[in-house]
Amino acid sequence: MVFPLVRNKMKKDGYTYHGIPKNLPEHVAIIMDGNGRWAKKRLLPRSAGHRAGVEALRNIIRMSSHIGVKYLTLYAFSTENWKRPKDEVNVLMNLLVEFLYNEIEELDKENVRITFMGEISRFPDKCVTAIEYALERTGGNTGLVVCIALNYGSRLEIQNAVKKIAELYKEDKISLDSINDELISSCLDTSHMPDPDLIIRTSGEQRLSNFMLYQASYSEFYFTDVHWPDFGNEAYARALNEFAARKRRYGDVK
Ligand code: FPP
Repeated sequence: MVFPLVRNKMKKDGYTYHGIPKNLPEHVAIIMDGNGRWAKKRLLPRSAGHRAGVEALRNIIRMSSHIGVKYLTLYAFSTENWKRPKDEVNVLMNLLVEFLYNEIEELDKENVRITFMGEISRFPDKCVTAIEYALERTGGNTGLVVCIALNYGSRLEIQNAVKKIAELYKEDKISLDSINDELISSCLDTSHMPDPDLIIRTSGEQRLSNFMLYQASYSEFYFTDVHWPDFGNEAYARALNEFAARKRRYGDVK
């Protein structure tokens, strides 16, 4: 594909990025898929795939921050992922805790604000403590907002929003007419962010898997066969260039 765009080369803090388009999505959301297949291809345990997935995640957070993406949402653990073997769930929880404690200093220096969405309360105490630490440590930062989706499912999120709105109505705090997009959005887990402009899914699957169903109304989708641990700077730049070449009409004819 030929991109009709000005390509540039960016340097920041010792990192060089090639081919970053000018009109970037403000909010990128990623379904990080394929850790298991990446590991299987290398005859490694699935845990090695998840560990490599964390490396990819660190890199994509850094690149997003350096090139000027404003919001980055990462689907790390879904409401359905509890069905996985207990050992694998434990590996994911441990990686989360390790990631938060190891990376927070660097992320804080980068002015990155870490946020979360999903029902965190079901997580073990060690995760909740690490999450609270990350929230507190980076809460005042004004750079890239990273939102990690944990025990997140869009249907559950929508059910919770409907309950909140019903409660407000029952308490006479709102009228039926005030139930609009703005109110619904403010009751979702993503109320601190705009809707995603670009949703990326790695590893070949072309579905949303209960991810941001309401927020994705006008998102652009980008699917790639690359497994998440292999999703590096070039693969990200390709996705951003394809986004930049899309025409977004929002139902209009222009
Ligand atoms: C999908 O790969 C990936 C996940 C379910 C978890 C994503 C987790 C990470 C990238 C690492 C941990 C996260 C944090 C925030 C530290 P899969 O296991 O479904 O792969 P497969 O479909 O090939 O089996």
